[in-house]
Amino acid sequence: MATDSERNERMEKIVSLCKRKGFIFQSAEIYGGLNGCWDYGPLGAELKRNLRNYWWQKNVTERDDIVGLDGSILNHQDMLKASGHVGGFSDPMVDCRTCKARFRADQLGEAKCGEKPSKSPLENGCDLTEPREFNLMFQTWMGASRDETSVAYLRPETAQSIFVQFKNVCDQTGERVKIPFGIAQIGKAFRNEINPRNFTFRSREFEQMEIEYFCRAQDGLRLTDEWLETRIRFYEAIGIPRDKLHILDVPDGERAHYSSKTYDIEYDFPFGVQELEGVAYRTDHDLKAHSEAVGKPQEYIDQAAGEKFIPHVVEPSAGCDRTVLAILCEAYDEETITDEKGKEETRTVMRFDPKMAPIKCAVFPLLKNKPELVEQAKAIKAQLQPLMNVTYDETGAVGRRYRRQDEIGTPFCVTVDFDTIGENGPDLEGTVTVRERDSMAQERVKITELAGYLAERLR
Ligand code: GAP
Repeated sequence: MATDSERNERMEKIVSLCKRKGFIFQSAEIYGGLNGCWDYGPLGAELKRNLRNYWWQKNVTERDDIVGLDGSILNHQDMLKASGHVGGFSDPMVDCRTCKARFRADQLGEAKCGEKPSKSPLENGCDLTEPREFNLMFQTWMGASRDETSVAYLRPETAQSIFVQFKNVCDQTGERVKIPFGIAQIGKAFRNEINPRNFTFRSREFEQMEIEYFCRAQDGLRLTDEWLETRIRFYEAIGIPRDKLHILDVPDGERAHYSSKTYDIEYDFPFGVQELEGVAYRTDHDLKAHSEAVGKPQEYIDQAAGEKFIPHVVEPSAGCDRTVLAILCEAYDEETITDEKGKEETRTVMRFDPKMAPIKCAVFPLLKNKPELVEQAKAIKAQLQPLMNVTYDETGAVGRRYRRQDEIGTPFCVTVDFDTIGENGPDLEGTVTVRERDSMAQERVKITELAGYLAERLR
């Protein structure tokens, strides 16, 4: 069992690797940083895209009962009044009269005092005000005038645009959507968190991957349990083992106001066990609220049964950035290996599931000053490029190049050597060395069979 300081050290190494290798940068870092906002660098952008694509493939493309939506980020104020966000989407906040810092009243134990960051406000005996509610939404104004009628909000969750487009989707998709069915969306959400923390875990701008799965009232609880299992299998498929996931059956009194059953799927991050996704049974709360607000029932019409009703909904709502962070934390590994000269060294390796790996294959010529090797390696890279994300590297010893690829989690490295170009005889001509990241095992593969060989192992 790792100690707290080992876990902290591990997290520091992950954060440092993310910056050093171009996964994640602090937003506007050269201006001192924009707290709670992050930019994904070249490798982070690929990793995040792999996750989004896989989520969409599994939840929309491969299913007959879920369709997609891409709603606007700016939300109508009346829509968020009806959903309860304008009046009630808040956290309790306290101020310290001495250090002037602001804290979430329910997270004082984990907060850091403004004057003594080694202590929490409770340990430091901060002089705190009474808690008051702080609305988490970012407000803005649409158009040229700034008055009450022009107020709009950056959406605090992607869910509401699904609810308010429910009737349009039903009307336009006709036969395709018959209850139970879902509407899925991936997109940005914004919350003015009082204390953003734990790297990207609690951010002010983040991405959600949400499904609103509409059903009959009598099926709501059963479908909530089924979705929980489906979602756990998803995490396993992207490389997060079941034994690192914890299921919290959120007790009465701690669930969101709209939910009569919620499971939180939590991951064992180095900074503690924390929520990745909520699977909530939202009943008919949202569609009812919007029906009342607009004075038109947001109903589902079952033509065959001659019925009209407001459906209930089960919502698996995952955080894209939190899942990326869990993938990074899970992948990070260090091991001691002995090099060719018998010297021990530490190998840092990101053991990404191949589906998630930002770069799938790196191609090297053994030497960069031998034109035949360079030409062949570049030709292989060009051949693989339409099929997968592939990179080319010719700098330094091959062992060093392997280490660089291990650190960014590239599952395969392909080396073009003298055998490849027939300089050692005809036996191995037209073959390359393929080295696998985790086992470091090497195999000789014919160039003509390389694309198929990699595709099979990357699946
Ligand atoms: N539509 C339901 C909803 O938004 P939530 O539990 O508030 O429920 C769902 O958010 C998921 O969104 C969370 O499980 C988490 O993964 C992600 N999330 C929420 N707030 C976040 C934040 N400040 N930073 C990063 N991710 C966040």
